[in-house]
Amino acid sequence: KQPNVIAPSILSADFARLGEDTAKALAAGADWVHFDVMDNHYVPNLTMGPMVLKALRDYGITAPIDVHLMVRPVDRIVPDFAKAGASVISFHPEASEHVDRTIGLIKDSGCQAGLVFNPATPLNWLDHVLDKLDLVLIMSVNPGFGGQKFIPHALEKLREVRRRIDESGRAIRLEVDGGVTADNIGQIGAAGADTFVAGSAVFNAPDYRAVIEAMHKQLGA
Ligand code: DX5
Ligand code: ZN
Repeated sequence: KQPNVIAPSILSADFARLGEDTAKALAAGADWVHFDVMDNHYVPNLTMGPMVLKALRDYGITAPIDVHLMVRPVDRIVPDFAKAGASVISFHPEASEHVDRTIGLIKDSGCQAGLVFNPATPLNWLDHVLDKLDLVLIMSVNPGFGGQKFIPHALEKLREVRRRIDESGRAIRLEVDGGVTADNIGQIGAAGADTFVAGSAVFNAPDYRAVIEAMHKQLGA
């Protein structure tokens, strides 16, 4: 298991003051920035593209930016996000015509590659590609919106992926996204996750630092 990472999803940040609000979360102890890209096609919502990511880099955000692509098609937009300054790029296997090729494209563009599993997506998509991945992301809500409730079945999937990662002996991160709060993060970490996306739990709180510290405390760090 890798050291714990808290990655606030800026989907719940103040879009009119995105640079400021992102910097505030990082200053409050966040490790990564989770960047949700929605296309009103693969998911029923529309958010932000590579230009917004580049604007955050230009503003001075140096932390790892964890791009979660909820778009179809995937491949065409990958180089644009890499050039804009993405650190990790994750995508949904159902949204890609050729999963192995997309992973290669992300890595060739100089980024780390992640594969994302919706609540109903079976884990056998990992069978032939796990060794090529830097991260596996288990969705604990259906993608499209922040502020949804954690689906408990995700815990079983996390345990299963944790077992597969440990068997592989590789330094692959296990990330969870959706409905993560300071109240449930302890059991989510116990199920094997090491990378925790939290949108509304951080950005809707009056004190970002207090939430992030509470999360670390629940994780036993
Ligand atoms: C959902 C997004 C999540 C979302 C999480 O499609 O992928 O990253 O912002 O938000 P919360 O933490 O509020 O569930
Ligand atoms: Zn996300």
